Formats: sequence, structure tokens, C-alpha cells
Amino acid sequence: MNGKRLAFLDSGASAQKPQQVIDAVTMVYQSHYANIHRGLYEFSQRLTAEFEQVREKIAKFIQAPSTRSVIFTRNSTEAINLVAQSWGRTFLEAGDEVILTHMEHHANFVPWHILKDQIGIVIKYIPLLDNGALDLSVLPELLTKKTRLVAFTHVSNVLGTVNPAKDMIAQIKSYAPEIITLVDGSQAVVHGTVDVTDLGADFYVFTGHKLYGPSGVGVLYGREAILEKMPPWQGGGDMIEQVTLEQVTYAPLPNKFEAGTPAIAEVIGLGAAIDYISGIGMDHIFEWEKDILGYANEKLSQIDGLKIYGTTSDKAGIISFTLKGCPTSDVAMILDQMGVAVRSGHHCCQPLMETLGVEGTLRASIGLYTDKDDIDQLCDAITKAQKMLM
Ligand SMILES: Cc1ncc(COP(=O)(O)O)c(C=O)c1O
Repeated sequence: MNGKRLAFLDSGASAQKPQQVIDAVTMVYQSHYANIHRGLYEFSQRLTAEFEQVREKIAKFIQAPSTRSVIFTRNSTEAINLVAQSWGRTFLEAGDEVILTHMEHHANFVPWHILKDQIGIVIKYIPLLDNGALDLSVLPELLTKKTRLVAFTHVSNVLGTVNPAKDMIAQIKSYAPEIITLVDGSQAVVHGTVDVTDLGADFYVFTGHKLYGPSGVGVLYGREAILEKMPPWQGGGDMIEQVTLEQVTYAPLPNKFEAGTPAIAEVIGLGAAIDYISGIGMDHIFEWEKDILGYANEKLSQIDGLKIYGTTSDKAGIISFTLKGCPTSDVAMILDQMGVAVRSGHHCCQPLMETLGVEGTLRASIGLYTDKDDIDQLCDAITKAQKMLM
């Protein structure tokens, strides 16, 4: 990159793809491409079977009880919008309360604000402590008889904070079992093992491109009993049982929520990504990244004027920071000249930036291919940028 070794530290935005994923996608187009679920001929049947095998892989990967509860979407954003528009518009009324947190990505903010505008729900927030953890001491006060849903991220894409999702869900359900929980796992599935059954979440979402898979495919896991009661969100081909001039009946789960031709090759690519990371082992990935994170924290903390946001002990490989007196976008551009790719800005978390009292941060995020040389290169580049800007 710019004549230098590349230190790619933006996997939190989107991860690089293993050759196996690229090969799997290429193979679909090169050898047996067809539309799925429709054709009686060999290519279509074969690709349909492969597509459905990926659903099985995903169910196993997140410990979902059945493939009926695994719905393919375009990404996490679409999965959350699906819940907001199908479940939310059907079961929420004006005055019903939804609890979010101050650390949500816009993907888990905006769909609820749209619902607020559409039907007048009330949105409440779990605030943060100084170290970037959720202040869960306020949760009991936020839960009321009108609470219908609590939606929160499993891992913050800015602070790296790993939220105690299982305990939070247990606390919410012990207050009222009918409150629905939605966990945004976009940054969690990539860094460690996720077991949706053990978590007890009603909905869990993630996006393929951060999980070393292609863009254009994401997953909504939902508890079957809840999905059954939800109406379809989008209508079209592949999601119907029967269509007459007078009425339409819908396909059973999961197809009811998968209108139109899906991202076929991308789903196959996501399956290859899951095979790839499962082959390495999520526990190994977790340990590797923990070591790199510890190294990065130690080295970055030695840089004068560098402030890290999010200092909880339970943290995934995401480090947000500012450099005193240096605009974040200027630093990011200088880092780029030195072969270091980091993200700068609000990271789709403007409410969190407001809470932190900054316009934006720099963010280095770690993937399974990140090594200590990348961190050394980052720290050298920051020190040089500091000298240039101060
Ligand atoms: C925590 C979190 N939620 C949701 C998203 C949205 O992902 P996508 O754009 O793939 O829907 C992101 C992406 O950065 C994220 O980090």
C-alpha cells in the first residue's frame, strides 16, 4: 500500500476474504450456476442443496435449534429492519417502550426510530460507564410494564466492549418473559463462539462480510414460535405457498421471509467462510486476537497524547482512539500513506460519539490475520503522524 507493507486494520468494517471463499463463489458461477428452489434440472437442484446446506452450517455455527429459525437477509441492517417492520409494526402500539443502548450502530437505532415515527413507540437507552461498559445498574428502572423489546449489540463496533448478553437477557426475562430481546451480533460472531440457545436471545443478527464471507448476505436468527406469528415483510417469489387472484398463502419458515432470488453465490461463499473459520476454531481465533489486542493496548498506551475509548477487561479486538491536537481524518490519511488502513469518523455511531464528547475517533480493528508487525507498523505510523501534525 503506497509502496509499504499493508497493515490492514479495518476488519471491523469488512474483513478480507480467504481464497477458499473466493474459490467457492467463483465455482458457483463457473461450474453450476442456476436459480435455486425452482428448477427441476441438475444445476438448480444441486445449487439448491448446497444453498440449504449453508443454512444447516449456520444453524450449527450459532447453535440454533433448527434451520427454520435461520433466515438469509442482505446484511445485519436488513435483518433488524425485518424485525422492526414485521414484528414491530404488528405487535407494537403507540406508547410501547423499546430499550436500546448508547453504543448501538445506526443499524440498531434507525429502524426503531422509523417505528417511532410510524407508530409512536417510546425509545429509552441504557447509558455507559466511563470505561465503555453499559451501566446496567439502570436496567431495572428502565424496564416497565410497557417494555416490549430490548435490542442491544453483543460487541460494540467502536469500544470493543463485550456486553454480558446472557446475563442481560436473563435479567430482562426474569422481569417479564414476554419482553423480546434482539442481539446485534455483527461484531461478536467474528471474534468468538456464539451460542444463541445458551444466550436465550429471541433474535440474533449478523452480517456475512465481516465474517470473512462475501458482502450481500446476512443472517437473522429468530425463535421459531415468534417467527411463526410474524407476517412476511417483503412479498414476491419464493415466499408463497399459493397465489390466486383473490388471496395469497405463505410458505413455511424460513422461506416466508425470503422473498425473491437470494444472494445465491454469496450464501455459498458464506458457507465456505464458516468452514474456513471453523477449521481454525473460534476458540483459537479468540485466543490469537486476545494476544494481539493485549499487545496493541500496551504499545498504544505508551504513545503520549493517545486516548483509548473502551477499557473494559472483557473486550474484543477493536481499539478506538484519538490523538491530542490531531484531527482524526488527517491522521488516517497520513497512516494510509504509511500503509496502515484504519477507520476514522463516527463509525455509524453518532449517538455514541455524542456520549463520548468527540466528533469521531480512529479505529484499529483486528482480524484473524492480524499480527504484531501490523501493530508495530500502526504505532510507528501514529508517532510519525503526530510529529507531522503537531
Ligand atoms: C455492531 C454493528 N451492527 C451492525 C452493523 C451493520 O452491518 P451491515 O452494514 O453489514 O448491515 C455493523 C457494521 O459495521 C456493526 O458493526
